[in-house]
Amino acid sequence: MRIRLTSSADHAADLVAHEILTQLQTKPNLVLGLATGSTPIGVYKRLVDAYQTGVASFAKIHTFNLDEYLDLPATHPQSYRFFMQHYLFDAIDIPAAHIHFPPSEGKHLLRRCQRYEMDMQGLGGIDIQLLGIGSNGHIGFNEPTSSLRSRTRIKTLTPKTLQDNARFYASDETQPTLAATMGIGTILDARTILLQAFGQKKAEAVRATVEGPISSYCPGSALQFHEDVTLFLDSEAASLLSMRDYYQQTQMHEEQLRREDRL
Ligand code: PGA
Repeated sequence: MRIRLTSSADHAADLVAHEILTQLQTKPNLVLGLATGSTPIGVYKRLVDAYQTGVASFAKIHTFNLDEYLDLPATHPQSYRFFMQHYLFDAIDIPAAHIHFPPSEGKHLLRRCQRYEMDMQGLGGIDIQLLGIGSNGHIGFNEPTSSLRSRTRIKTLTPKTLQDNARFYASDETQPTLAATMGIGTILDARTILLQAFGQKKAEAVRATVEGPISSYCPGSALQFHEDVTLFLDSEAASLLSMRDYYQQTQMHEEQLRREDRL
């Protein structure tokens, strides 16, 4: 795992957006796996800026979102489709037909989850998967004890996740307890994974993900199996890592070798 100790969430967003925009230059039909929540907003702002200043076009990309609450319509302000329209899709030139979400309404959900996977594979698989991480170590809505080989399916949310997300719901609003989510196996199929984590409340999940044993109890730890995953952390999220100096040294060495054009 590559650990990037960044000076702030803004710095991390600069680096992640730069990586996406660089890959977009060589592959205009990039397939992006996208995340919601507070963590990726800075990256989306930078992608919107790149489009609005004429630096990038997203007309040929396809996107697959990680997850969606069951039975929240796209018009509901807490639905992840609404979030994505607001923070990214409405402000760039992606065609509506190129936007993909796991099925979250209607019948035959599992069959349609398999279709979602087939659509992804039909487009050549996900090039870059953006991730956040839950304070309980979940990635997507793969809650603790999710199968490490799981595919897109329906999951029951844990009390911890419901509590973390309760802030988005008014007291008289019903918070969904079920979601459709890409599986851990689905996420691990992405060619490149870029995970951002900010703030003290993520520190334990980050420690377990990077330095803990691989365990379904911390779904993030499955990323140790992936060959191209980078974690972009602010100092609080990195605060419980025991090998911070080593990660910094590794980063310096990589930058130096790149400067010398030796990688
Ligand atoms: P957050 O959520 O970005 O709002 O912290 C991350 C997650 O739960 O995966």
